[in-house]
Amino acid sequence: MPSISRRVQAIKISDTKLMPMIAAKVGGCVSLGQGVPSFATPEHVVDAVCSALRQDSAAGKYTLQPGLPALREAVAELLGSEKGVQADPETEIVITVGAMEALLAAILTLVERGDEVLIPSPYYASHVEQILLAEGVPVPVPLRSEDWGLDLEAMERAVTSRTKAVLLCNPSNPTGAVYPDADLKALAALCERHGLFVITDETYDSLTFDSPMPMSLASLPELAGRVILVNSFSKRFALTGWRVGYAYAAKPLMDEMLKVHDCTAICAPAPSQAAALAALTGPQDIFVQMGASLKARRELACARLDELRDHFSYVRPGGAFYIMARYLFSSESSREMAQRMIREARVVTIPGGAFGPEGDGHLRLSYGASEKEINEAFDRIQSWVLL
Ligand SMILES: Cc1ncc(COP(=O)(O)O)c(C=O)c1O
Repeated sequence: MPSISRRVQAIKISDTKLMPMIAAKVGGCVSLGQGVPSFATPEHVVDAVCSALRQDSAAGKYTLQPGLPALREAVAELLGSEKGVQADPETEIVITVGAMEALLAAILTLVERGDEVLIPSPYYASHVEQILLAEGVPVPVPLRSEDWGLDLEAMERAVTSRTKAVLLCNPSNPTGAVYPDADLKALAALCERHGLFVITDETYDSLTFDSPMPMSLASLPELAGRVILVNSFSKRFALTGWRVGYAYAAKPLMDEMLKVHDCTAICAPAPSQAAALAALTGPQDIFVQMGASLKARRELACARLDELRDHFSYVRPGGAFYIMARYLFSSESSREMAQRMIREARVVTIPGGAFGPEGDGHLRLSYGASEKEINEAFDRIQSWVLL
C-alpha cells in the first residue's frame, strides 16, 4: 500500500470540529463550543438569493474567477471606508470559499517548505494546520498570559533567518483580545525591519465591544506590498454556512494567490456571493443588532463566570465571541477536562490546548449561542463543579 503524503500525515482535524462529534454521540448537550453566531440568515438576504436564482440564469453558474464584480466593488468600498485600505476591486480583491480558503491561498502563496511563520499563541488552530500543509514551520510566540496581549520582545526573539511571515488574528480567536494600535505599529515595524510578509486575519473586525474597529495592518504604508488581509462574511453577517469570505493583497501578490484560488475552488459559490452582496449592500440595522446581542451575551457569560470565581479565572474579552476560561479546580489536561465536561455536565467547550500549549489549563467558551442556551450551559457547569 503506498503511503499518504507526509503533509497530510502531519495535520489533524481541529478539536473545534471533534468536540461536537463526541457530543453528538453522548446526546443532550448544550454548546459553548464552535464559533457560530446563533442568528438565522436575515430575510432580505434570503430574498435576494431567491430572486437572483429565479430571475437570473447566471445566478447558479460559475462567476468570474475572482468573484462577482459588484461584490468585489462593495468589498473595496468597505475596506476603504472602514479601514482606510485602498484596494482596486479589479485586481486586488478575491472572493473566496470562506476566510478559510483565503487563508490557505495566502499561506500556500507565501510559505515554502521549512519557512517559519510566527504566530502569537494561543492561536486559531487551523492557521497552524494550514502552515503545516504548506510544509512550513509554525512558530508559536506566547502572548502575555495576564491579558493575552502581544509580547513584542518575544516576537523579536523568535525571528530567525528562516522567518518568512507573521500571521495575526485581530480580534483574536481564541482569546477575544483586541490589540491596540501602538502594538500593531510596533509589529509592523518589526516586519519591515526583518523583511517579513504579514497575513492579517480580520474575521472578527466588526465585533469589538469596548473600542472601535481595530486598525488594519493592511492600512500601514510601511507594509505596502507585503500584506494579505483575510476576512469573512461568516461572523459579522452570520453567514457561516454560506461559505464566503475574501482577501485583499496588492496586485503582484494577488496575481499569485489567484492561481491557488483557481486550482482549489475556481470561484466561491455564486448563490453565496449573491448572499454576501445583499448582506453588504442591503440594510445594516439587523447586523448592528446582532453585534449588540453578542455584546449582551459577553456580559452574561462574564457574569456567569464571575459567579464561579473559585473555579474559573479569565481575561475579559474585548472582541470576537470567545473567552479562555482557566479552570482552577483540576490539573487535568484541557482535552480530558473538555471531554469529561461533555460526558458529565453535557456541555460542549473546546480544550484550550487545541490552540497551542499556552492554552492548556483553559477551556474556550463561545458565547455565540442564544442567552437561553448560555444560561442553560452555565447552570449545568455550576451544578457540576459544585457537586
Ligand atoms: C480566526 C478565524 N479565521 C477564519 C475562520 C474561518 O471563517 P470562514 O467561515 O469564513 O471560513 C474562522 C472561523 O471560525 C476564524 O475563527
